[in-house]
Amino acid sequence: MCCKRYLSKGVVSMSEEKRVAVITGSSRGIGKGIAEQLGKDGYAMVINGFNKDDVEKATKELADKGYQVVAAAGDISKKETHEMLVKTAVEHFGRLDTYINNAGIAHIGNLVDESAEDFHKIFATNVDSVLFGIQAAAAQFKKQNDGDKVRKIINASSIAGHIGYELLGAYSATKFAIRGLTQVAAKELGRDHITVNAYCPGIVGTDMWDYIDEKMVEINGGQKGQYLKAAIDGITMGRVEHPSDVANYVSYLASTKSDYMTGQAVQIDGGVQFI
Ligand SMILES: NC(=O)c1ccc[n+]([C@@H]2O[C@H](COP(=O)([O-])OP(=O)(O)OC[C@H]3O[C@@H](n4cnc5c(N)ncnc54)[C@H](O)[C@@H]3O)[C@@H](O)[C@H]2O)c1
Repeated sequence: MCCKRYLSKGVVSMSEEKRVAVITGSSRGIGKGIAEQLGKDGYAMVINGFNKDDVEKATKELADKGYQVVAAAGDISKKETHEMLVKTAVEHFGRLDTYINNAGIAHIGNLVDESAEDFHKIFATNVDSVLFGIQAAAAQFKKQNDGDKVRKIINASSIAGHIGYELLGAYSATKFAIRGLTQVAAKELGRDHITVNAYCPGIVGTDMWDYIDEKMVEINGGQKGQYLKAAIDGITMGRVEHPSDVANYVSYLASTKSDYMTGQAVQIDGGVQFI
């Protein structure tokens, strides 16, 4: 089997109130920050990422902090990975309440030079994955006898999903697409007591931004760190965004407090864009 389970202090029984989440791309960065916060909120969680060792390491760290977690590495551009993640949640924790399509990749380059291969790869990873996650989660939610309890699908878009950024053309297109999927899924699933929302981070200090900065230096020249610094200089709150800043908002989306909110894609960016 794919999964290694870690439980804090031998807790095995799930109370009726216990909530269960799948978080894709939670082996590091924003996803790991979300797992930390949802763990504090009392969620049991399926931890995912591309690299098996990274996923197991992150899962162990989270378990050591007392959270109920199970590791389930797998490529989220494949439909069967989402089915496996849902199955893992149900097998280990008995149900599913929240599905977070967080994993994604960046890609830097001018649109005029974009290869079909790179373009399809980023769409498969960032957009196909969200469609498959919505499908797998909705199928499970509809199977559960949850009455009028609201279940949640939460997708990672971006400030680049509201405004297109130079050199981030393909990436921006994927993040616009995620807003579209979020709105339509919200409309189609609302009567089933399922909400679908997105979060749109700004400039978060993760491996993704290290990669963006490095590629911008390759294309435009300059010094390592220069493009990240320039981006941070444009933030109203005067500092880089932390995964915990995003996680605080996702915590709200994953809670009953947001039960009447659906189809939205809110920018949580410290004041980068005002639209
Ligand atoms: N970092 C930012 O500034 C920023 C801003 C806006 C939006 N976002 C979005 O937030 C999400 C998380 O970004 P991050 O900065 O934490 O990125 P990151 O590169 O630090 O982490 C990405 C995570 O996704 C996983 N992943 C990537 N491809 C995968 C695949 N094919 N299958 C399974 N897992 C895969 C990785 O294993 C990792 O766990 C992404 O969707 C990203 O587009 C990030």
